[in-house]
Amino acid sequence: MNQKIEEILAAISDLRANTEKEIEELRIKYLGKKGEVTALFEEFRNVLPEQKREFGQKLNVLKNAVQSKIESLKENIAETGAVKSSCDLTKPGDRMELGSRHPISITREEIISIFHKFGYTVAEGPEIEDDWHVFGALNFPPEHPARDMQDTFFIHANDGNPVLLRTHTSSVQVRVMEKMDLPIRVLCPGRVFRNEAISARAHCIFHQVEGLYIDKGVSFADLKQAVLLFAREMFGEETEIRLRPSYFPFTEPSAEVDVSCNICKGKGCNICKGTGWLEIMGCGMVDPNVLEASGIDSKIYSGFAFGMGIERIAMLKWQVKDLRHYFENDVRFLRQFETVI
Ligand code: PHE
Repeated sequence: MNQKIEEILAAISDLRANTEKEIEELRIKYLGKKGEVTALFEEFRNVLPEQKREFGQKLNVLKNAVQSKIESLKENIAETGAVKSSCDLTKPGDRMELGSRHPISITREEIISIFHKFGYTVAEGPEIEDDWHVFGALNFPPEHPARDMQDTFFIHANDGNPVLLRTHTSSVQVRVMEKMDLPIRVLCPGRVFRNEAISARAHCIFHQVEGLYIDKGVSFADLKQAVLLFAREMFGEETEIRLRPSYFPFTEPSAEVDVSCNICKGKGCNICKGTGWLEIMGCGMVDPNVLEASGIDSKIYSGFAFGMGIERIAMLKWQVKDLRHYFENDVRFLRQFETVI
């Protein structure tokens, strides 16, 4: 009982009301038939006779305090038409929730800013593409089985020319080669689509950054150097790269690039599956057929191209184990990137 009296006493000093209705509600809360103070008076009947004096006094003090608080609230309204100080201007303000950038955006910007230092600019193109820009111009002959490498979402055929969702941003590189003056040094970031079952390691939508460099006398050594510099900027000074022979219809020779595992420093861990290496991108020297298809003289010019998945780079950088996190936008996941940029 003592405790309850103290609680009410403490609560009433903070009471505020803006209207007569609110004051009346407070009166009912404390002094009404079922009010908190009234209930204490009921309880008083059960107090031991020797304690009656002490509690009786306390209860009267409480009742008076509540009554006078209510009176003073009423006076306040009567005087000013509103409560003089219904809000405490000295209290700290409400904290505003700060948003954070999505890890895919952070990674894309980082990739772009690294290549920006080497003189690359950015080009974008349509997500809904025609067969020519996604396959034809990139040396995929019709019916070529290499088209099966990327399960395509076809939308419809336009006069026999299929319209589809781009499966890679190499389509933007084709558009750049068709229009831009040489030499070309360009990055093509963007969303791409492949008909794959959604799992921890694959998604039907993901993001790429592809790069293209075309000039006189560009060699495979230039490609290797560009990839090495990028890998060291992205994953740390000591990063090593390894190139494994590969195949893409639009590059010859082609390679798959691995970086030394930045977690175990190449010793072998479960991120790199014990190999010490992590695959980060595909690359190669632009096939002369591709240059010619876009009207570039392959006897004078040569070039290299590379392409990487942004999700993959971000996964390696922050050890994200499941690709689906990027698309679900659970704030508990996204908040972890608040402090990155
Ligand atoms: N376009 C390829 C892909 O989507 C990547 C790539 C780009 C490979 C450029 C080599 C050269 O997988």
